[in-house]
Amino acid sequence: MFDCSLDLGLSRQQVQLTPQGLHLAGRGKGTAAELREVAAAGRTVFLFEVGRMAPVQISGDYFYKLVPTDEAPTIEISGIQMHRTTGTRPFQNARASALTVVRKGVSVLDTCGGLGYTAIAAARLGAAQVVSVEVDPNVLAIARQNPWSADYFTNPAITVVEADSAEFLAGQPDGRFDRVIHDPPRFSRGGELYGGEFYRQLARLLGRGGRLFHYTGKPYSRRHGDSFVRGVTERLRAAGFSVRRAEHLQGLVARLA
Ligand SMILES: C[S@@+](CC[C@H](N)C(=O)[O-])C[C@H]1O[C@@H](n2cnc3c(N)ncnc32)[C@H](O)[C@@H]1O
Repeated sequence: MFDCSLDLGLSRQQVQLTPQGLHLAGRGKGTAAELREVAAAGRTVFLFEVGRMAPVQISGDYFYKLVPTDEAPTIEISGIQMHRTTGTRPFQNARASALTVVRKGVSVLDTCGGLGYTAIAAARLGAAQVVSVEVDPNVLAIARQNPWSADYFTNPAITVVEADSAEFLAGQPDGRFDRVIHDPPRFSRGGELYGGEFYRQLARLLGRGGRLFHYTGKPYSRRHGDSFVRGVTERLRAAGFSVRRAEHLQGLVARLA
C-alpha cells in the first residue's frame, strides 16, 4: 500500500500496487501497461474509469488538453496555456484576481469561464450570484472531467452559460451586475474582447460604483514597450472607467464613478 492522490492533489488515498497493476479504490485497476503509458506521456492528465483509461484531451478545431501543475491543472488550447503558472498557481491566481473586486453579496459576471477557477473563487468569496460565460463547448467538456472544476457545475451560486460573451452582454439589461472579472484569451484569439465596444457594454452592465478586474498579461515589445496595456487602459477610460494597474496580477482594476 502507498499513499497518493488520484484527483490531482485535492485528496490523498491509500492504493495497492501488485504485479497486476495499481488497484484504484472503486475505479478498477490500472494495469502495468497502462501505468507505463501514463508515465511515458508526461504533462498529461488521465481519467481512469472501470475498464477505461484515457487522457483528458479533445481534438477539434483546436487541440485541448488538461495539463497538470503542482496545484490545479491548466488547460492548453493548441499549445497555449490558459492560466498563469510562473510565479503563481492557477487556482491561487484566480482567487487573488477575484479578491480585487468581489465582496460578499455582489453579483458577478465572469466573461471567460475556462475551467471555472475565477467563478469558483468569486462564489467562495461570498458573491451572491456568479454568471460565467464560456464560448467553447470543448473547454466546458474538459472542465467537466477536471476535479478542480467540480464546484463550477455544482455550486448553486454559479450559473454557467455557453455563449459568446459579446453576444451575451448585448442581451443583458443596464446595471445587471455589480462586478466583472474579465480574463480573456490573448488578443490574437479574441481581439473583440479588448475593444471599445466591449468595454462600453461592460460599463453599461455595471453602472455606477461597478468594478472590473481585467487580465491583460504583460505583453512588452522593444519597439512598442507596454503600448498594448496602455491601449486597453485608454479604451477603458474612454468607456468611463477609472483604471489602476495590478502589476502582480498582470491586470487592471477599473471602477465606474
Ligand atoms: C484565459 S481563459 C479563462 C480562464 C478562467 N478565468 C478560469 O478560471 O479557468 C479564456 C477563456 O475564454 C474563452 N473565450 C474565448 N473567447 C470567448 C468569448 N468570446 N466569449 C466567452 N468565452 C470566450 C476561451 O475558450 C477560454 O476558455
